[in-house]
Amino acid sequence: MLNATAQGLAIELVGVGKRFGSRTVLGGVDLRIARGARLGVIGPATGGKSVLLKIIAGLYRPEAGLVRVAGRIGMLFQNCALFDFLSVADNVAFPLVQEGGVPAAEIEPRVAARLRAVGLAGSERKLPSELSGGMKKRVGLARATVATPDVVLYDEPTAGLDPVTTAKIYGLLRADHDARGSTAVVVSSDVDAVAAFADTIAFVDGGGVRWIGPAAGLRDADDARVRDFARGTP
Ligand SMILES: Nc1ncnc2c1ncn2[C@@H]1O[C@H](COP(=O)(O)OP(=O)(O)OP(=O)(O)O)[C@@H](O)[C@H]1O
Ligand SMILES: [Mg+2]
Repeated sequence: MLNATAQGLAIELVGVGKRFGSRTVLGGVDLRIARGARLGVIGPATGGKSVLLKIIAGLYRPEAGLVRVAGRIGMLFQNCALFDFLSVADNVAFPLVQEGGVPAAEIEPRVAARLRAVGLAGSERKLPSELSGGMKKRVGLARATVATPDVVLYDEPTAGLDPVTTAKIYGLLRADHDARGSTAVVVSSDVDAVAAFADTIAFVDGGGVRWIGPAAGLRDADDARVRDFARGTP
């Protein structure tokens, strides 16, 4: 992965391809995301959305193409991927500890502030096994953002959550990105919620970005596949 990206881009993918064994799961993906942009990624199951995020995060190496990301990355995983043997506080502290150079005395207050922001003050000593699905998502959000990354990748931040919690989580994302000007990429099945948050939407299907356009008016997009998907038309 190359580091600095010219032209004010936070993320640039050129001709990216990814296979598992003989199976191609991403083919020829081109994607350019400006710094500070908010991209929503939608599309049918198994289309390649999570693989795309993991390629941007540098967790999978593509066989073809180029991936450039400017700055530090934070990621919320689709299944949260909390460490089951670490407390909530230690899970959230993990990126700071791993990064090194953060004074120990700074870690605890930063973790506490992030947990307050996601409405989990006082849950520091709990283990992931004691948390509800929504609480796990919020711990994952705190962990993804604690090291003040320039680019935050969110994989299904609200899947399985009730509408009120969903609204709260998007409120949190909005507040965070407003305050920091950081770049957001949000994969979400909550099409209306992600379209309200994002400025741009990418429709991913069959291992490629099939459409990219403004988030506003998605239900009337100039592409029938996107319109049908956004409207839930079978
Ligand atoms: N580590 C892996 N090894 C083999 N195949 C994989 C691996 N990760 C993903 N795949 C395959 O790649 C394809 C795309 O998977 P991906 O998880 O990106 O889909 P998705 O669009 O995120 O779906 P969903 O909406 O269900 O989360 C799927 O067919 C999946 O089985
Ligand atoms: Mg996925």
